Amino acid sequence: MSEKATLNLDGKPYEFPVITGTENEKGIDIGKLRAQTGYVTFDEGYKNTGATSSGITFLNGEKGILRYRGYAIEDLAEKSSFTEVMYLLLYGELPTAEELRKFENQLTQHTLVHEDLVKVFEVFPTGSHPMGQLMTQLSALSSFYPESLNPQKSPDQLNLTIIRLLAKMPTICAMIQKKGKGHPVLYPQNRFDYVSNFLYMTFGNVTEEYTPDPVIVDAMNKLLILHADHEQNCSTSTVRIVGSSHANLYASIAAGVAALWGPRHGGANQEVLEMLEHIRDIDKGDVKKVVAEAKDKKRLLFGFGHRVYKNFDPRAKILKVACDNVLAKLGVNDPLLAIAKELEAAALEDPYFIERKLYPNVDFYSGLIYKAMGFPTPMFTVLFALGRLPGWVSQWKELRGKNEDIGRPRQIYTGPTLRPFVAIKERK
Ligand code: CMC
Repeated sequence: MSEKATLNLDGKPYEFPVITGTENEKGIDIGKLRAQTGYVTFDEGYKNTGATSSGITFLNGEKGILRYRGYAIEDLAEKSSFTEVMYLLLYGELPTAEELRKFENQLTQHTLVHEDLVKVFEVFPTGSHPMGQLMTQLSALSSFYPESLNPQKSPDQLNLTIIRLLAKMPTICAMIQKKGKGHPVLYPQNRFDYVSNFLYMTFGNVTEEYTPDPVIVDAMNKLLILHADHEQNCSTSTVRIVGSSHANLYASIAAGVAALWGPRHGGANQEVLEMLEHIRDIDKGDVKKVVAEAKDKKRLLFGFGHRVYKNFDPRAKILKVACDNVLAKLGVNDPLLAIAKELEAAALEDPYFIERKLYPNVDFYSGLIYKAMGFPTPMFTVLFALGRLPGWVSQWKELRGKNEDIGRPRQIYTGPTLRPFVAIKERK
């Protein structure tokens, strides 16, 4: 017999089906709650709301588990490449060698962006934040590919729209960095793989040959894999809700970029580095004082805490080790790393952080690696977006495949009740 949950309201019992996921997580299906009882559920910040069922990413915050399509993040970060993970997220299985070759070849064929899109950069004032530029460029893609506006696309057309976006993203991200420096943009080179091409367009120079450093290529692959999906987080939920109105892929992803930009979400990686610099320069390295101020709610410790992970963030664990390795291999001795480690140790032994289960998250160490690689701080969240793109796209594709209902939450109204209109001359 299928499991039911009983709710007593106004002395009357109502039964609702319980749904169970493949990892045995359970949800009460309240789809008919309002129709049957007149009530809605109230869950500010969606802390207890399963907005969808999804077969892409499994996350257990209590146990610190993260898996894409059933594969452990630790295995993928260690043994896979970013393009392989992209394929896995999008199509549900790890590719064979031939499937991967074809997929990478498709990506290589679509890396160029329309020259008019390059001109869009000219209208941004110097110093414009890279995330604002990224949102604009991604939504502009819909103007260059108007066929993407049709929600009734054939699977082949849909796949082409997806491939175009995945292929052009590194080109656009690299151009943002080049434009920020006032340097000429570099066009993609088909001899490079996806990640090396991005590094070439970002760090290469028109004046000389560029050979990607294998240490940086490897670290970049790892970072992108670790960011590739994270189930129904703020930006992914945004992508899904925008996509549920049948808005086109490019517009939906641009909305996801907007959500990611916030300092409580992906924008935290920029904030972490700026916080560490502040601790070094203004707080004179006094980590104890910083922790005390965080406990007094005078400041937030960026890179700490997570809505879902209440044990540890498995991505942060991998990145802590990667950070040590990359900095050592690149011969970078960054005093900020010592401050980060001191801060982590001080927070982890403090009852305030222990009681609230606040652990370092993915953003805590990523910025130090990006900095060692040579990325400017304002680019950090763009790198998060580059990594998260296949996750957003896969979630959008899944939603559209299921033709999910339009996302439209309800509310509990707390404003004034009906009152008579007062003519302007009579208002006080
Ligand atoms: N520093 C100090 N106190 C904190 C922090 C922090 N980073 N995070 C949470 N708290 C406190 C918070 O003040 C609250 O205390 P109290 O119980 O006394 O009111 C308690 O911990 C619970 O916090 P919450 O805000 O209810 O937790 P949440 O699940 O709503 O928020 C969060 C999660 C990530 C938004 C929050 O921890 C935060 O703002 N962290 C800093 C920003 C950050 O690093 N964000 C990146 C998240 S991981 C990457 C990503 O997914 O984008």
